[in-house]
Amino acid sequence: MGLYHFCLGFSLIYGFWRAVLCDQEGFLSLYCGDGRSFVDSSNISWVPDDTYVSKGNITAVNFIEGSSSSQVPVRFFPDAQERRKCYTLPVKNMSSMVLVRPQFYYKNYDGLRKPPAFFVSLGTAITTTVNLTISDPWVEEVIWAVTKETLSFCLISIPDGGVPVMSFLEVRSLPEGAYTSGMEDFPNTSLRKCYRFNCGYSNGSIRYPIDSYDRIWDADHSFSPSLLSSEFDIPLPLNISGIKESPPLAVLQSARVVTRKNVLTYNFPLNKLGNYYIVLYFAGILPVSPSFDILINGDVVSTNYTVKNRVASVLFFARKGIQSLSITFQNISFYPQVNAIEVYEIVGIPLEVSSTTVSALEVIQQSTGLDLGWEDDPCSPTEWKHIGCEGSMVISLELSDIKLRAVSPTFGDLLDLKTLDLHNTSLAGQIQNLDSLQELEKLNLSFNKLTSFGSDFDTLVNLQILDLKNNSLEGTVPESMGNLKNLHLLNLENNKMLGPLPQSLNRESLEVRTSGNLCLSFSSSTCSGFTGNTSVEVPQVTILIPKKHSGHNQGAIIIGTIGGVLCAVLFIALSVLIYRRRRKETEVKTTRTATEMRNWNATRVLSYKEVKAATNNFKKAIGRGSFGFVYLGKLPGGKLIAVKVRFDQTRLGEDSFINEVHLLSQVHHQNLVSLEGFCYESKQQILVYEYLPGGSLADALYGSNSKKIMLSWVRRLKISLDAAKGLDYLHNASNPRIIHRDIKCSNILLDSEMNAKVCDFGLSKQVLRADATHITTVVKGTAGYLDPEYYSTQQLTEKSDVYSFGVVLLELICGREPLSHAGTPDSYNLVLWAKPYLQAGAFEIVDECLKGTFALESMKKAASVASRSVERDASQRPTMAEVLAELKEAYSIQLTACN
Ligand SMILES: *[C@@H]1O[C@H](CO)[C@@H](O)[C@H](O)[C@H]1NC(C)=O
Ligand SMILES: *[C@@H]1O[C@H](CO)[C@@H](O)[C@H](O)[C@H]1NC(C)=O
Ligand SMILES: *[C@@H]1O[C@H](CO)[C@@H](O)[C@H](O)[C@H]1NC(C)=O
Ligand SMILES: *[C@@H]1O[C@H](CO)[C@@H](O)[C@H](O)[C@H]1NC(C)=O
Ligand SMILES: *[C@@H]1O[C@H](CO)[C@@H](O)[C@H](O)[C@H]1NC(C)=O
Ligand SMILES: *[C@@H]1O[C@H](CO)[C@@H](O)[C@H](O)[C@H]1NC(C)=O
Ligand SMILES: *[C@@H]1O[C@H](CO)[C@@H](O)[C@H](O)[C@H]1NC(C)=O
Ligand SMILES: *[C@@H]1O[C@H](CO)[C@@H](O)[C@H](O)[C@H]1NC(C)=O
Repeated sequence: MGLYHFCLGFSLIYGFWRAVLCDQEGFLSLYCGDGRSFVDSSNISWVPDDTYVSKGNITAVNFIEGSSSSQVPVRFFPDAQERRKCYTLPVKNMSSMVLVRPQFYYKNYDGLRKPPAFFVSLGTAITTTVNLTISDPWVEEVIWAVTKETLSFCLISIPDGGVPVMSFLEVRSLPEGAYTSGMEDFPNTSLRKCYRFNCGYSNGSIRYPIDSYDRIWDADHSFSPSLLSSEFDIPLPLNISGIKESPPLAVLQSARVVTRKNVLTYNFPLNKLGNYYIVLYFAGILPVSPSFDILINGDVVSTNYTVKNRVASVLFFARKGIQSLSITFQNISFYPQVNAIEVYEIVGIPLEVSSTTVSALEVIQQSTGLDLGWEDDPCSPTEWKHIGCEGSMVISLELSDIKLRAVSPTFGDLLDLKTLDLHNTSLAGQIQNLDSLQELEKLNLSFNKLTSFGSDFDTLVNLQILDLKNNSLEGTVPESMGNLKNLHLLNLENNKMLGPLPQSLNRESLEVRTSGNLCLSFSSSTCSGFTGNTSVEVPQVTILIPKKHSGHNQGAIIIGTIGGVLCAVLFIALSVLIYRRRRKETEVKTTRTATEMRNWNATRVLSYKEVKAATNNFKKAIGRGSFGFVYLGKLPGGKLIAVKVRFDQTRLGEDSFINEVHLLSQVHHQNLVSLEGFCYESKQQILVYEYLPGGSLADALYGSNSKKIMLSWVRRLKISLDAAKGLDYLHNASNPRIIHRDIKCSNILLDSEMNAKVCDFGLSKQVLRADATHITTVVKGTAGYLDPEYYSTQQLTEKSDVYSFGVVLLELICGREPLSHAGTPDSYNLVLWAKPYLQAGAFEIVDECLKGTFALESMKKAASVASRSVERDASQRPTMAEVLAELKEAYSIQLTACN
C-alpha cells in the first residue's frame, strides 16, 4: 500500500520537477584525477578536476575498484606536507548558500594498507578531520554562505597522517535564505551535516533529480524505534511554499508516525561536544491535524505544536555545547509525526586577515622572487610558512636566507607584527620603513649589509630585542634609542661602529653587545683616537626635481588604488593589492560645499533615495572588490549604471572622497569609464559609473566559461589600442596630468561593441606640485603589474603605467596571467618568461588560440612594443604616446593582412 502510493507520488513529483527545474544551474561536479567528462545515470554532468586543483605535486591514479562493479577515480597529493592542497571553486551566485560535498576513497589504492587521515577546510575554516581508517569511503557535506566569487576547498595533511586523497567533489547551490532561520546567534559559521533523514522511508537514499538541490536524504529506519512507529507514504499535494529550504515533496510525503505509544524519540549520536543546528519538517499528510510537544535533550522546545492538513511547516533549533542529541515528540493528540530531520554541526569560520596585511605579504612574496606557497588567507585554516598569527593578526614574519635587498615600505603595513626576523636577506643601506610597527618586540636584522640607522627606532616602544650583529653599520647609536624602555638586548657585534654609546643605554636592564666594532663604548675617552670620522644618519627626504621643459604650470595627480575597485563587472582576485591605510603623504586640503559640487559639469548629485530606487534596493550585485559591492542600476532615463557602494570601514575622509569625485568629473574621454554621478550623504559614499555590459578584459581572457570570450588577434589589438588611447589622454592631454597607477586587465572594461575603456581611477590622492618629473610615494599597485623600478625607488612616473600596460600587452599576446603557477617555476613571472622569447622573435609562446591567425609583421610590432614597455630601466621604455603610435601600426598591418 505504502509503496504503491509512494510510486504514484514519485511519478507526480518527477513530472513536476521536469517541468519546473530541469536544469542543473549552480551544480559543479568534479571527477578527481581522471580526465573524463561524462553524464551519469542521474543526468549529472561530471567534469575533470584538473583546472580547479592547485599546483604542485599532484598525481592521479586512474581508478580503484569499488566493492561493487563501479570504479572510483582517485587523485592523491604526495607533497601536501609542503603546503595545503586546494581546489578553487567558482561560485556563480554571490550572497547565496552552497552545499559542498567532497568524497574520499582509499580502498587500498596504493597497496600499502595505510588509510590516510587529514584535515579538510573551506575558506578559512577547518571543517573536518577525515580519517579513512574509521570510514572508507568518507562523505562530507558542508553548507556555506558565499561571500566571494571563489571558494577555496583544501586538503591539509596531518603529520604522519599519510597522503591525502580525493575522489569526487560536488558543489550545489541552495535556495535563497535556506538554513539561516534560527542561526541568528551564530554569525560567521558554516554547517556540517551530521544527519539528514527522510523519515518513514526505508528504501535507500533520495537525491537529485528528486531533490533538485541534490541533497542526500537517507532512510531513517536505523535511528527510530521502528517497533513503535509506522511509515506512511502518502502522495497528497502539499503547500510547501512557506519553507525556504524547499525539501522535495517526496521527502515530505513520507512520515514516521507513532501508532502504539504516546512517545516517539530519535537518539542521534554526535561525535563531539559542540553547537548543533536542528531542522524539523512536518507535513499534514494525514486527514487529521495532529498536535504534540517537542523536546530536545529533555527540554520542551515547543508545546502543542500543530500540523495543519495539507500544509508543510518547519522548525529550527540551535543547541549550544551538547554532545548527544535526542528529539522527542510526546503529549499527542492524534498521531505525533515527523516527516524529515536534519542535524548539523555549527562550525565557526575564523575571521580573515585584513586585506592590507594580505596585500603587503603578497607584495613581499613577489619581491623575494620566490614562490613561498602563500595563497589565500595567511592565518587560517593554517598559517603560511614563515608567518605566525594570533587570531586573524599576523604577529610574526621570519624570512631569512633569501634576497630581499631592502626593507620596502610594504613591511610598514604589517602593523600587528611582534616578531620580524630578516637575518641574512641581503639588506643594504639604511634601516627604514619600520616606524609604524609599534607592536614590534623582536627585530632581527643580523647578517646583512645595513650601513646606517634611520630615525625609525624612536617609535618602536615595545621593542625588547634588537639584533643588528654582522652588518656594516657605521657611526654610533642614535641618542633616541635610549627611549626604548623595554629594550633588554641590543646586539651590535661585528659592525663598523665608532664612538661613545649614549649614556641612556647604560642601564642594568639592558645588555649591549659591542664586540667586533672599530670602537664602541660607554666611555667617551676610549674612542677619542678615532673621532672626526663618524657619519651622521641622513633622514630620507622626498625630492621632486623640477621638470626642465614643461611649459605647463600643472600639477600631477596620482590616481591610485587607494579607493580600489570600482569596475563594474569586475571580480577581483585575492591577489589584488590594495592599500587602504592612508599614509603620510602630502594632501591638499580642499573642502568644497555640496553646492559647489553641484556645479561640476555632467556629474549628477544623487540622493541616497534615488540610488536606492535606481538599484532596486541594491538588488543585483555585479561585482565585489575589497572596498565594497558594485550593483547594477538604472537611471530614470533608462541608462544602465554600475553603482559602487563603499563599505563602512573603507570609507574615506571627506576630502579624499570629494577630491576623487571632482577629479573624475573632469576626465572625459571615450576610452575612459565615465562617472555619471555620486551620492554623498552622512553615512554613504557612493559612486555611479556608466555600466559596461561586456565585462572586463580579464573576464574575457581568463573568466569562467560563461564570461570567457574568444578574442582574435585583431580584436586584441583593437582593445589594446583603445586602452592606450585612454592612457595617453591621462598622461598627455588631461590637465592636470594623471598617472593611473593600477593598469591591469581587470581594469580594462568592454562595452557591448567590444570597445575598451580604462576604469578604476580609485579615490584620488592629490599631490599638487608644479612641474614634477616624479612623485615619491608609497608603492601601490597589483602584483605582476608593478613597475620594478617604482618598487625599488618609490618614485612614480608615467613610465610605471607604461610598464603595467606592457604586462597587459604580454597577456594579450600570450593569453596567460602575469603570475602563474601553472607551468614550470621559470614561467611563473610572465615578464621574465616571455620577454626573451619575444625579443628573439620566437613566437611559439603566443596564445595557442591565436596561432595561424595573426600577420607576422603585426605580431612582431606588438611584441616589440610590449617587450620594450616592460624594460626594467624606465628610461628605456617608450612613452605612452609612442606605444599608442606603434599599436596603431600593428593594428593597421593586421587589418590589411585580413583583407
Ligand atoms: C539531462 O539534463 C539536460 C540538461 O542538463 C536536459 O536537457 C536533459 O533533458 C536531461 N535528460 C533527462 C533524461 O532528464
Ligand atoms: C611527487 O611526489 C612523489 C612521491 O612523493 C615523488 O616520487 C615525485 O618525484 C614527485 N614529483 C615531483 C614532480 O615533484
Ligand atoms: C584514525 O582512526 C584510527 C582508528 O580510530 C585511529 O587509530 C587513528 O589514530 C586516527 N588517526 C588520526 C590521525 O586521528
Ligand atoms: C542568485 O541568487 C539570488 C538570491 O539568492 C537568486 O534570486 C537568483 O535566482 C540566483 N541566480 C541564479 C542564477 O542562481
Ligand atoms: C563576522 O564577519 C564579519 C566580516 O567578515 C566581521 O565584521 C564580524 O565582526 C564577524 N562577526 C563575529 C561575531 O565574529
Ligand atoms: C526500492 O526502490 C527500487 C527502485 O528505486 C525498487 O525497485 C525496489 O523494489 C524498492 N524496494 C522496496 C523494498 O520498496
Ligand atoms: C501556501 O501557504 C502560504 C503560507 O505558508 C500561503 O501564503 C499561500 O497562500 C498558500 N498557497 C496555497 C495555494 O494554499
Ligand atoms: C492544542 O492546539 C489545538 C489547536 O491548535 C487545540 O485545539 C487544543 O486544544 C490544544 N491542546 C492543548 C492541550 O492545549
